[in-house]
Parts: sequence; C-alpha cells; structure tokens
Amino acid sequence: MAETVLQVKSVTKHFPGVVALNQVDFNNYAGEIHALVGENGAGKSTLIKVIAGAYQPDGGEIIFGGQKTVWDSPHQSREAGISVIYQEFNLFPDLTVAENIFMGNEPLKAFRLIDYPKMIKESDELLSKFGICIEPLKKVKDLSVAEQQMVEIAKGMCNQTKLFILDEPTAGISDQEAETLFERLAVLKAEGVSVIYISHRLGEIFQIADRVTVLKDGNLVDTFDTKAIDKNTLVSKMVGRDLEDIYPPKGGEAGGEALSIKSLSVGHLVKDVSFSLRQGEILGLAGLVGSRRTELAHGLFGSLPITAGSYKLGGREVSATNPQASIRSGLGFLTEDRKNEGLVLGQSIEANITMPILAQFANNSLVDFKREKNFCQQEMDKYAIVAKSGEVLVNNLSGGNQQKVLFSRWVQACGGVLILDEPTRGVDVGAKVEIYKIIRDLAESGLAILLISSELQEVVGMCDRVVVMKEGRLAGELENDQISEESIMHLATLSRENFVCD
Ligand SMILES: Nc1ncnc2c1ncn2[C@@H]1O[C@H](COP(=O)(O)OP(=O)(O)OP(=O)(O)O)[C@@H](O)[C@H]1O
Ligand SMILES: [Mg+2]
Repeated sequence: MAETVLQVKSVTKHFPGVVALNQVDFNNYAGEIHALVGENGAGKSTLIKVIAGAYQPDGGEIIFGGQKTVWDSPHQSREAGISVIYQEFNLFPDLTVAENIFMGNEPLKAFRLIDYPKMIKESDELLSKFGICIEPLKKVKDLSVAEQQMVEIAKGMCNQTKLFILDEPTAGISDQEAETLFERLAVLKAEGVSVIYISHRLGEIFQIADRVTVLKDGNLVDTFDTKAIDKNTLVSKMVGRDLEDIYPPKGGEAGGEALSIKSLSVGHLVKDVSFSLRQGEILGLAGLVGSRRTELAHGLFGSLPITAGSYKLGGREVSATNPQASIRSGLGFLTEDRKNEGLVLGQSIEANITMPILAQFANNSLVDFKREKNFCQQEMDKYAIVAKSGEVLVNNLSGGNQQKVLFSRWVQACGGVLILDEPTRGVDVGAKVEIYKIIRDLAESGLAILLISSELQEVVGMCDRVVVMKEGRLAGELENDQISEESIMHLATLSRENFVCD
C-alpha cells in the first residue's frame, strides 16, 4: 500500500450564507494523481485552499506527512512541500516571467545577490520543457492568458514538492500544451510526488488520474478508482442527473455576410488574415497557444490597432475603431481574460450583468431597480449561477460562475457579431450543455458567432466551419465533414518545428 501523504478529515468551511465544505474526507497517496471534480461552486477550490493554508477550516483536521497540521499561511505549507497552481493566477504583472517563476526562491550568488543570468537560463530551460517560446525577460502583463497559465505551471514545477496541486491548469490552453503537462506529471508521479488535479475536462481525468473524488454542494459524493467508473456515471454523480447530448444539432441556414476580413494585420502579431462569417453561422477559430487568435479578436474589437487590411461589419466598411464604436456597431466580445478585461470584481453580480445595458431599465433617467433585479434573477437561473443572491460580489464567486456572469452580459449587449474567446473556460459539464444550447440558439436567431476555443472537442462539436491559425497567419479552413480533431491539429502544428520566437 502506498504511503498516505495527505489526509483531510471531516473538514468544514463556511462563508456568509454558504457552506462551501461540509465535513469532507479526502486523502492522497504518494505517486498518485487524484482528480477532484464537481460543478461550479461545489467547493473544489475551497478544499485546496484549506489544504494549502490559504483558508482556515471551521472544523475538521488536515494531516500532512503523518502530522496534524495547522497552517497559518500558504507560505508554511509551501515550506513543507505543498505546491499549488491556483485557478486564478498569482503572477505579478509588472515583473518579468523569470522573476515570477523564481519568486521567493531566486538562485543566489556571493553576498546573497540574485544570480540573474542563472535565473534567466533556468527559466528558459523550464519553459522550453513545455515546448513554449516565452522570453524570460518579458513582463507578465504582456503575455496572453494561455501563456500566463504556462508560466504558472512552470513556476509550480520549480519547487521541490511532495504534494502538487493544480486547479484547472488546462483551462484555456490547447490540447497540445496539455499533453506536455501530462508528460511532466507522469514523471513527477514516477518520482513519488502526490498530485491533486482539478479539471472540468473529463477526458483528461480518465487519461491521467488514478482516482477521482466528486464534490457536490460542499459535500463529498464519493471517491472512485478511475478504472472502475465510466464517463457517464461520473457526470451523473457530479450533476445529479444524466446529460443528453452535449452538443446541439448543427445545420441552421446561414444568411448574409456579417463579417468579412481582408488581408488584416495587427502589428507584427497577426499577418494578412482573410475570412468571412455569415449570419446564423458559428465559425471556429482554432490554433495553439501563441497562434494569435486573441490578438486578432482584439484587432477587430478595436482594443489593438489594425496596421494593414480592412474589414466589414454587416456589409459596412469599418474605419477608425475603438471598443465603444465596435459595441455601437453591434460587435460583442467575451474576452478570455475575465479578471483584467471583463468583470468588475468589487461589484455585484447584478451590476456586472446589466452594466452595458443599464439604459434598458431606466424610466425617466431613473433606474427601475426592481425590473433590473428580476432580469438578473432570470439570467442567474438561466445560467445556473450559484450564489445566495444577485447582490453577491463577483469576487466571491467560484471561477466557473464568474465566467457565466460575463457570458450573460455579452449576450445581452451584442447586436450582429459575437466573438466568444474561450466561453466555457472553467465551466462545469452541466452548465456547458446549457451554454452550448444558448450559443446555437443565438446563431439560429441570426447572430454570427466567432468561437475561439482551445478545446478541440468543443470546436468540432459546435462549429459549422473552422479557420485555423498558426503563428499569426491563417493555416487553413475546414467545413462540414472535414472538421475533426485530427484535421485541426494537423493545420495548427504544420511545420511547427520551424517555430521561431519573435
Ligand atoms: N472568499 C469567498 N467568500 C464568499 N464565498 C466564497 C468565497 N470563496 C468561495 N465562496 C463560495 O463557496 C462556494 C464554493 O466555491 P469554490 O470556489 O470552492 O467552487 P469550485 O468547486 O472551485 O467551483 P469552480 O468549478 O467554478 O471553480 C461557492 O458557493 C462560492 O461562491
Ligand atoms: Mg474553483
């Protein structure tokens, strides 16, 4: 029998109005990958924060390495050998990639001075293990969300660790990068490191985990050997019911041209991209991390400058752009970076949902709060946003529930073309089905949808047509029966061995 590294005994954690964990038992062996799954708001992140000392439990105990432990801070648990990749990034945006990776753990030379050349060299080595070209001297704020995720992972890997906890490390990174992560985890596992792995991508749970524990509404449902359970049973344990088909049927009639892009360039990031999108159509935009899909979307939305080429929205040439003008001309953009570009974390769910459409609730320039409240309640029901009321601050929502708030907002605010950048990032499988239905209904009502997603299954399941980007350029286009995970990967990785950092 493998050594038990961690034992969580009857742990309880309350927040105002919420029992986030209710007498939860959980344990982890050396050399195992133990997955933790459950719906948005089930208590997964809270459990790992308690294990790592970021939250104090209200009851129960944590036994780590055979000793009952009470961490006063995450720093103590890190010293003891627990390394955590949190769901929300913990990077310092104004510091470089190398400084972030080695934060608190910098290589030193004589007189306790930081050995910068060594730090940069080691960062480079660590990142290239993931097949990722990120310049160690780049500031974190200049990286894409997916690149930041890779830096988080690299940072987590650089400590000497007994228990490695990853909270949705693959949300927003492509399958190719995820595979590299799994290879690294297999190495750690063979070295006897114990791993707790949270993910909403159930395929990867079956690929890498030895055991899986299901939480629901703060309660432990059960722990299973992954080999002894199938995907459908696991889903029904998580959501409490069977799910019908995950993806709604395709095949709506496409209408007139909603968006047409000609030889568009965004600085040196995006080069010479052309494609079109019709009303009623869901067009997938696929590619690896760093393929510049998000930058293209920012160009269209007006938040990055277009340096060559042109595009038409609803048949009209778009000239000088900025986000306000884009919104007025009917373009909606659900960004992948919900923390920095989307949500106002210090405000309520209600305020966040109605922000761009507040005028709709005004009578003689006074906001009709009751109508606003009712509307928000309907939206919260529609997307199954788990919170005591619409007045809860977005800051206190679980990751997936924050994503749903953002989704609701942009669907309301959008006119003709909706760009969705990783719309189901961190969203649980039950809620995904609802969101997919909503996306398809929006298309059927005539909206044109550009779906950026790193989850190949999602692209294949949802899109009528797919364009694939590679290194800032268009690598190809697929439609109908041509769309498959293999064909997308093939285009996305073509001649990747020639990849050069810019
Ligand atoms: N700091 C906090 N203050 C108030 N409530 C909180 C806080 N952190 C979490 N909660 C609540 O506790 C519950 C569990 O949240 P948690 O973040 O653990 O969910 P999760 O399982 O990680 O979900 P997700 O899959 O969406 O990340 C939720 O109802 C959440 O709103
Ligand atoms: Mg979470």
